[in-house]
Amino acid sequence: MSKLYSIPKNKSEVSILDAGAGSGILSCALLERLERMASVQTIELTCYENDDNILGLLRENLHTYQANSKKDIQINIITDNYITSQYLDFNHMLGGNPEPKKYDFVIGNPPYMKIPKDAPEATAMPEVCYGAPNLYFFFAAMGLFNLDTDGEMVYIIPRSWTSGAYFKRFRQYLLTEGKLEHIHLFVSRNKVFDKEDVLQETIIIKVKKTNQIPEKVIITSSQSSSDFDNLTSLTVPYSLVVSGDDYYVYLVTDEEEVSVLERLHRFDKTLPDIGLKMKTGLTVDFRNREILRDDAEEGAIPLFYSQHIKQGEVQFPI
Ligand SMILES: C[S@@+](CC[C@H](N)C(=O)[O-])C[C@H]1O[C@@H](n2cnc3c(N)ncnc32)[C@H](O)[C@@H]1O
Repeated sequence: MSKLYSIPKNKSEVSILDAGAGSGILSCALLERLERMASVQTIELTCYENDDNILGLLRENLHTYQANSKKDIQINIITDNYITSQYLDFNHMLGGNPEPKKYDFVIGNPPYMKIPKDAPEATAMPEVCYGAPNLYFFFAAMGLFNLDTDGEMVYIIPRSWTSGAYFKRFRQYLLTEGKLEHIHLFVSRNKVFDKEDVLQETIIIKVKKTNQIPEKVIITSSQSSSDFDNLTSLTVPYSLVVSGDDYYVYLVTDEEEVSVLERLHRFDKTLPDIGLKMKTGLTVDFRNREILRDDAEEGAIPLFYSQHIKQGEVQFPI
């Protein structure tokens, strides 16, 4: 994750935010990368963490790093709730800071947890809250809010937000305020956090805070989190990956999927637009023998199988 940042070669001062820092493993990975950059002199690292059980380890890890580093590192550990403590700033409300601190780099592995619509974190960010909210997307949206213009955010999060109605507002926020530059996919769904019970399919995203739409997105994939040396990489036009009013994100992994997507994007109408309605899964032929006909009859409707769709057209009957 720390490798994904584009850090200018002449940068001397760097500010980093890691919200939900846990033991500080991600911060340390980024500090290690900065340690090797001669131009970097001062680093300001802010970590949010509100679990007392891990705070001692976080402090110890970061201060050990600081004591052994050749850089001038300033560490701020904030023990407040990352979301609710910034409620006034995020919503530009009276009493909030009109010029809240912004960071060059945001890194994160947020908590993944469904929360009720009336949970304090959900009501703190109405702009992105919709349907069944999950803490991870409030963290990602707040991360982008905390980022400076042209700053970069690298997050590891479930992939569920890339499609689905519940995430529409979040997608809208993320992809208007920022733009996706890189997506990393794991082919094996349970080998990312190998010591934990995380079965959610996770992806790593790099988002730049900018209005400018990049031409391309890089999509890499690895089997798991232990074979990053063996990456498959694909460069895809941005407009193919992020598409439509719903800001769906299409996670393509090879040239064949790219060509399917190109063909799909050429359609400018949906089925309801042309007066059709489609449902899948409701009709099972062998359970409906008594209503099946061999020949067309007045009032009967066709039952299509995949065999009836050939070269992009319906051929019926066959
Ligand atoms: C998935 S863990 C990630 C820890 C670490 N970043 C890592 O990658 O190992 C998420 C962390 O966020 C913390 N957390 C959860 N809700 C929080 C909140 N509202 N404010 C600050 N930290 C929170 C948890 O205590 C936990 O340590």
